[in-house]
Amino acid sequence: MFLRKKIFSLGIFITATMLMLAACGNNNSQTSGTATTDSKGSSEEAKTFKLAHITPTDHLWHRAAEKFGEELKTRSDGKMSLEIYPSSQLGTEADMVQQIESGSIDFGFITAAYLSSRAPDFAAWFMPYGFKSLEDAYAAGDSDVGKKILASAEGTGLKGLGYLLGGQRVMIFKDKEAMSPDDMKGLKLRVTPSPPMQDFYKSAGVSPEGLPLPDVYAALQTGVIDGMDMDLDATITNKFYEVAKYVAVTNHMVWPSVILTNDKKFNSLSAEEQTIVNDSLQAAIDWASTTRTAEEEQFRAELEKNGMKVYEISPDKFEQQINEFDNKYKEQSPLIKEFIETFRK
Ligand code: BEZ
Repeated sequence: MFLRKKIFSLGIFITATMLMLAACGNNNSQTSGTATTDSKGSSEEAKTFKLAHITPTDHLWHRAAEKFGEELKTRSDGKMSLEIYPSSQLGTEADMVQQIESGSIDFGFITAAYLSSRAPDFAAWFMPYGFKSLEDAYAAGDSDVGKKILASAEGTGLKGLGYLLGGQRVMIFKDKEAMSPDDMKGLKLRVTPSPPMQDFYKSAGVSPEGLPLPDVYAALQTGVIDGMDMDLDATITNKFYEVAKYVAVTNHMVWPSVILTNDKKFNSLSAEEQTIVNDSLQAAIDWASTTRTAEEEQFRAELEKNGMKVYEISPDKFEQQINEFDNKYKEQSPLIKEFIETFRK
């Protein structure tokens, strides 16, 4: 009797432990799956993916994420869906990368600026005044050297699926219409803590402050900084026009994010599912490229309407900074050298 009771208790213990382990396993891998049957009668798992990024919901990258979700749904006959976590809801870019590595997020739009601190070849993307247009920059992402740079993010469980570009970078000044590096000397400008971006500004005599995006508005308002490196989209979506008067549309650098996923999770998808994910992403990338190019004039007008002076600075003014950048970074790696020599306009 005693033995029967012991075996019974042991059975309960083992079952409970197995249930707990299964629950933990599910927590680790957040892609939820339920078996469904489609209109053609074939049965496949329904999948809900998680995607995180840092921008507000009216920014181009969030709208591209929504487009990706719509494409996934249509192309998978309703079996794939996407949950989007915008505005750093899941933490900083460093936190997001860690969650992609562990598999608790499926996709992240991670800035090449952030990645340039982990994988130095991404610095190539920040050659100042390197591209004539966003289209040229997308072509660089599709090139062999662009893909090799993408692959340099891999190795810790990450896989790069492509580039999604934002608008090109502009310079915002709180209360000075700076027209040249001479005018910028000594200004404290917020510049993303990315080595190549900070080097460019340092060579123009600026003191760069590496503030994260959510801290920038207050820093500008309180005079901690005199301006910032930004894009037009984020200037509008973060309402920086409320606290700064001048925007120089320099378009001096492009602003790629890298679409990262977890390599094991991606490889566990069937070939057909992988194709749906890749094609849906490509559709979102193409949509973003066309949409952003068409919005440029509208963004300038919106900033003017909100009281900013919108003006241009001739690229010639930055000739010295361009040369310093190219000389330093071409030395740093053969991939950066190849990228700059192939694409500099
Ligand atoms: C920024 O940190 O400057 C930024 C990040 C994402 C989109 C746009 C701007």
